[in-house]
Amino acid sequence: MTPEPTELITGIRELTTQADGAPRLADAALVIEGGRIAWIGPASAAPAADVRTDAGGRAALPGWVDSHTHLVFAGDRAAEFEARMGGQPYAAGGILTTVAATRAATEAQLTATAARLRREAEAQGTTFLESKTGYGLDLASEARSARVAASVADVVTFLGAHIVPPGIDRRDYLDLVTGPMLALVAPHAQFVDVFCEVGAFDVAESREVLLAGRAAGLGLRLHGNQLGFSGGVRLAVELGAASVDHCNHLEPADLDALAASATVATLLPACDLSTRQPFPPARRLLDAGASIALATNCNPGSSYTTSMAFCVATAVLQMGLTIEEAVWAATRGGARALGRDTGTDAVGALRVGGRADLQVLDAPSVAHLAYRPGVPLTWAVWRQGVRAGRRGPSPLPA
Ligand code: NIG
Repeated sequence: MTPEPTELITGIRELTTQADGAPRLADAALVIEGGRIAWIGPASAAPAADVRTDAGGRAALPGWVDSHTHLVFAGDRAAEFEARMGGQPYAAGGILTTVAATRAATEAQLTATAARLRREAEAQGTTFLESKTGYGLDLASEARSARVAASVADVVTFLGAHIVPPGIDRRDYLDLVTGPMLALVAPHAQFVDVFCEVGAFDVAESREVLLAGRAAGLGLRLHGNQLGFSGGVRLAVELGAASVDHCNHLEPADLDALAASATVATLLPACDLSTRQPFPPARRLLDAGASIALATNCNPGSSYTTSMAFCVATAVLQMGLTIEEAVWAATRGGARALGRDTGTDAVGALRVGGRADLQVLDAPSVAHLAYRPGVPLTWAVWRQGVRAGRRGPSPLPA
């Protein structure tokens, strides 16, 4: 058998590995072989390899893990966004605009849009992402959304319980979501999700959806406490969900529950800005001992961005996180929220034997992600050892 070619990436001024024990190394190098990391250590001790890439004094870190997106949709909602910036409040009902456009689109159109967004994300350093269904909301459209999501995303979440669509009785819709729709989508999905919010589903309905998903073999996630005190956070913790997403409105009991649980609080700063919701209490969550993840929530209604770097910068500049905490939340935090923080298929950290999912910034340290907000800093990206987007090379100033 021909051995896999090896690639040495050297000249890394600051290597953020996120690995336990040695999370950051100075003047480092690493070797990629067969899509995995074969060696990590000081640049001065790096072994020879078939291909040599000089990072030229730049910073390297794991690729972003975007654990919350809704990439399967058609149309946009720029007019709704513009009205919101003029003072209109955000409401769950806007979802139905996208449902109508998504149902009217072809599978090829949905795939093209989702794939374009995936490429856009990867060019900005995202190497692993989740996508939900949830803009189909009938049997055929949800099944189609699940197929499209499975073709572009690493992890698929069934979100038939996004909102009750028009033309169907509420009870009948819940029976559909927890019965035939779940059966059709489950083979393509790893998680089930529910939007537990005023205007979407209440706590009892959300419990029913999640328990049905669990019985079908899916892991649990929940959209909770985005627009008010929905009770979603405590339901997610009670059921042992992998993550509860949004968390803008938390009571002390919600903070306590998250801190005492393994449920990750997934925070979505771009969505908070775009919907003018108060930011979640990220500092208090961390200080209480909860795990947090940062994700884009890319969707056409509440957060139309694929930029994890923007989320990291916002979390640092507006939500009180340190650079280190924000970068952790956007890499290992996302992995934890997707149940991919440990094992041979773990993502979000650079370890010998682990997946070679990494990015090099056109900057000497990760601090520049927040220090130079809004500046595209991705210099190169490797996903499972294969080099993807690239700007540069350009020399760093002395
Ligand atoms: O995560 N909150 C529910 N779902 C999406 C947005 C849906 C929409 O407005 O289209 C979210 O923000």
